[in-house]
Amino acid sequence: MIPDETIERIRESADIVQVIGEYVELRRTGADYRGPCPFHQGTNRNFSVSPKKKIYYCFVCHEGGDVFTFLQKRLGMDWPAAVKLVAEKSGIEVREVERDKRDGPDPRARFWEMNAAAAEYFTRYLWEELNAGPARDYLAQRGISEEVANRFALGFAPREIGLMRASLNSLGYDDDALLEGGFMVKREENTEPRPRFRGRLMFPILDVSGRHVGFGGRVIGEGEPKYLNSPETPVFSKGKLLYGLNVAKLAARREERMLVVEGYFDVVRLMAAGVEEVVAPLGTAMTEDQARLVTRYAKKVYLLYDADAPGQKAAFRSGDELLRQGAAVHVVTLPDGEDPDSYVARHGADGLRARLGEAVDLFERKVQILERAGWFGDLAGKRRALDRLLPTIRATADPLMRDIYIARASEASGVSRELLAEEARRVVSPRASQIAPERAGARRDDFTAPDGAPDMEGPPPGMNEGPPPEEFVPQRPFLKRRGDRRGGDRRGWVEERPAIRGWGKVTGKTALVERELLRALFHQRPQLEMVAEKLGTNGFRVPAYRRIFATLLAAEEDAPVDAIAAALSPEDVVTMQQQLLVEPEAVGDAASVVVHSINKLRAFEIEEELAALEEQRRAATGDAQDTLLRRIQQLGAEMRELGLKGLKTEGFRKRRA
Ligand code: UTP
Ligand code: MN
Repeated sequence: MIPDETIERIRESADIVQVIGEYVELRRTGADYRGPCPFHQGTNRNFSVSPKKKIYYCFVCHEGGDVFTFLQKRLGMDWPAAVKLVAEKSGIEVREVERDKRDGPDPRARFWEMNAAAAEYFTRYLWEELNAGPARDYLAQRGISEEVANRFALGFAPREIGLMRASLNSLGYDDDALLEGGFMVKREENTEPRPRFRGRLMFPILDVSGRHVGFGGRVIGEGEPKYLNSPETPVFSKGKLLYGLNVAKLAARREERMLVVEGYFDVVRLMAAGVEEVVAPLGTAMTEDQARLVTRYAKKVYLLYDADAPGQKAAFRSGDELLRQGAAVHVVTLPDGEDPDSYVARHGADGLRARLGEAVDLFERKVQILERAGWFGDLAGKRRALDRLLPTIRATADPLMRDIYIARASEASGVSRELLAEEARRVVSPRASQIAPERAGARRDDFTAPDGAPDMEGPPPGMNEGPPPEEFVPQRPFLKRRGDRRGGDRRGWVEERPAIRGWGKVTGKTALVERELLRALFHQRPQLEMVAEKLGTNGFRVPAYRRIFATLLAAEEDAPVDAIAAALSPEDVVTMQQQLLVEPEAVGDAASVVVHSINKLRAFEIEEELAALEEQRRAATGDAQDTLLRRIQQLGAEMRELGLKGLKTEGFRKRRA
């Protein structure tokens, strides 16, 4: 057996123009090649071969396919022979084919055959048995004709428990095989096996190559669950299959897009209406494997999910998965209460195409929802809004698209592109949920809509949670005067130094540590006083940080950020937002960040002072030199106390050199 991956590789690397060109006289027309159609023996150049899409298509007889189907149909080759021939022409070794001959048939073959046999049984039952009447009525009532049903090989699983078993037993599938294949279940050892599917409308599920691998069954009449799938078997894996892909793959190449819907009926309805580039995952949000499958055939993807909250949520989650695979993702919004099936039943394929024309980029849709709910209107909301947008930016594999999303998020939030890009680059560790237990349990990539948003759920529990304060006060009533601390008592090492730290030189590393400290302080406001005592009121060198710090210090401990913002200049507000907007997880353990930052800042200062003292000492003589030396030793001791010896020696060496 040749693995699907190998087949895809062969298809991708094959020169379809060259292969078909051996049988048809092709001439270049724009991006494609044209020639007389060999299938209906045409004389005009209606037969087109696209080297880009790797397909051929006749505009007259509508015969179409890929390089393999061409050889199968034109030369009557069987599938493995066609694959092998193309592989040879493309210089790809197909060892699997050889192994296949040596080791006997693929062990999965009996599962494919069993599923095909079951499909045939269900189909026959649907159309021939009296007891399937309700299922036929159901199809008729949903507007699914017999012809359409047969195109998808729909069937019906009898309610009676012995019928299918007997029929498949007679075809050579014993009870063990039926159990393994997922058609029968045994509640306990020693009990009679019973059918898994009873009284259900059956949708056969085929893999990408068109082999029968399993079923989805919809209940007819009463019963739970509404849909039931085959269990995992050697050929059936829910997260790796897409309903309709065996048909949709060619259409997707031709149309250069893929539609993703939620349900079996959606696929059936759209395909029946002539929109064939459509697939559905099997009842879950899209997995990585499924997203990879989709993007193999088309990079442009349209998500058509229910307008209700779970549908939107699933759409957004699937969207991120697709972005990770480099897709361009669009969201189609259908009127409330409609799904693609009902919409096409009512408005036809043209109605649907109109909706596709109005599709909105996935990221833009997210921004719109947040904007409409007013989340960008205040600081806390912005933080939460960006929390929801950043995972999508991170997921976006295409660098150009990522850049566009960053620009859009920047435009919506007022946060600089640079900072957003930096945030987006940050890898969110799985540890994050431990650091911020409030967020544990909330899936990071869940995109849920803000409160009050019309079509989505409320936000998950998280940091900076709860609605932003109602009373946005533009003045300073939340601020409390605590008196000027400038001349007040300073304890510890701050006392010994007359220089106020805040006005010294700003180096890159100082600014970085100050930023970390300020960030942490937003989460550790009770520690503000302690920090002020250690660093001095003007404790920060970066002017904007200094002003924000002073304002924070002057405010009541529980003053909302909006009140603090009201006391700042607009530029400082932006700077503050940027501190706040860093994901809470990134701050880590705020309390220890505060302590470490203070120590680091002090260490930087000691380095500075030591460097200055060394210089003075070289010029000094006698008593002056002794005084300087004492001070140098004092500082050295303090540095050791700070426990940052690495920092110290590094500083010393640099200055000595
Ligand atoms: P929906 O419940 O949204 O229904 O299931 P639908 O497609 O509109 O169903 P109809 O039109 O009433 O028949 C969407 C898809 O979710 C999966 C199935 O794949 C279904 O097609 N599903 C749904 C399940 O796997 N289990 C369920 O119980 C329900
Ligand atoms: Mn439906």
